[in-house]
Amino acid sequence: MRHAVLLALVLGTLFTYKQANTKLLAAPAASQSPSVTDENNLLGLPPVPIPVNNPQTPAKIALGDKLFHDKRFSVDGTVSCSNCHDKQKAFTDGLAISVGHHGLTGTRNAPTLLNAAFNPSQFWDGREPDLEGQAKQPLINPVEHGLTDHKQVLEIIRSDPDYLATFQTVFEVSGKRLSIDHVAKAIASFERTLVSGNSAFDRYHFNSQADAMTAAQIRGFELFIGQGRCVSCHTIEQDHALFTDSRFHNIGIGINRIQQDIPRLAQAFLEAKNKGGDVDKMVLTDKKSSELGRFAVTDDLSQIGAFKTPTLRNVELTAPYMHDGSLKTLKEVMVHYNNGGVAKAGEPVNDFLSGGIRPLDLSDPQLDDLVDFMKALTSSKSSSKFAVPTSTQAAN
Ligand code: HEC
Ligand code: HEC
Repeated sequence: MRHAVLLALVLGTLFTYKQANTKLLAAPAASQSPSVTDENNLLGLPPVPIPVNNPQTPAKIALGDKLFHDKRFSVDGTVSCSNCHDKQKAFTDGLAISVGHHGLTGTRNAPTLLNAAFNPSQFWDGREPDLEGQAKQPLINPVEHGLTDHKQVLEIIRSDPDYLATFQTVFEVSGKRLSIDHVAKAIASFERTLVSGNSAFDRYHFNSQADAMTAAQIRGFELFIGQGRCVSCHTIEQDHALFTDSRFHNIGIGINRIQQDIPRLAQAFLEAKNKGGDVDKMVLTDKKSSELGRFAVTDDLSQIGAFKTPTLRNVELTAPYMHDGSLKTLKEVMVHYNNGGVAKAGEPVNDFLSGGIRPLDLSDPQLDDLVDFMKALTSSKSSSKFAVPTSTQAAN
């Protein structure tokens, strides 16, 4: 939890932000004044960090929304960001592994974009520092939008009078000055509006509303912060909770795909990277490289198979789970933790397993309580700035 505090301090220096008292007002041109979306004071959430060089404005958010849903930015005209981050599915795709153009599959599960605005790094391995950097990758990834070059995006925009007029209004750019960075900024601004809080847990914990959670959920919460030790990674702070320490841990998922082969694989990956190989393409097109986890970004062997702790907000709506979508239900996730990071109790653990993962010795009803607790982290429609579907997952 200390790390989350430290991170907040670091973040504070990166994005100087403060509470504004007007909603979504465009910062005056050339102003260095920080901006913040005032609407984001949903119970349980901190203010959304807004980079000083990309203030929120209503017109920019609307432009980002349009770009996010535009299928023309793909090699076969069928893929937009929303294919894999579908509002109706809490901004995921409901698949274990995402499907891009021409039915091509990648290697990883699509995370929800809800509250991604708070992530100090993006992707399961944190290879992009911010939403702006992230948004440029899928467009030119061979198994996602499949374009070969960002120029293809710009050509479409430059041939569309509506887009041209809007980019002129929002960024005061046209022609050659209109770049992929403007596109990325607009998409990131839209994504910064996808926040959701004020769940039953928030009302119980931050608003002292004792009846907001059921008895089973309260027992689950006690396990979450007690015997389950979940809170050591899925953190809860004094006045808000994002349920992630934003750090990277190997919790024993997917690593058996490369177990026997790690030294050779790690070596080959580093060589390819040193020759200019693009990490985004390498990890999303090769199943084994994908399992290297955070190592692919830092070259640090101790981070083999380590992935970013995901938020648990709305987790009830985002099955299947984990970076490889290998666990179908929250109950399966609980069994994995209870076994100490292996599929079957007593199996040997992998060499890189986090020290924080050990058998928990919880009973089956206790695992059910933990699952129930996680369902208290679902935000209702009115607690989000988008429509959250009602849960259809009775099977958890
Ligand atoms: C073909 C499916 C697909 C498409 C299309 C797609 N994404 Fe994703 N998205 C994914 C997958 C899979 C990941 C996780 C990849 C990884 O971590 O290596 C991801 C990760 C992300 C993340 C990181 C979230 C986090 O918590 O770390 C963001 C943000 C995101 N996508 C936004 C976008 C935007 C914006 C677009 C359009 C420009 C887009 N995605 C297009 C599948 C897709
Ligand atoms: C050592 C840190 C750590 C601890 C302790 C921990 N988690 Fe996790 N959790 C993670 C990481 C990292 C992932 C993603 C791993 C991956 O995909 O390889 C994850 C994934 C999950 C997921 C899947 C979320 C999704 O969107 O796919 C759930 C649910 C979850 N954890 C719940 C819990 C619960 C409940 C506990 C306590 C019993 C717990 N975690 C303990 C780090 C941790």
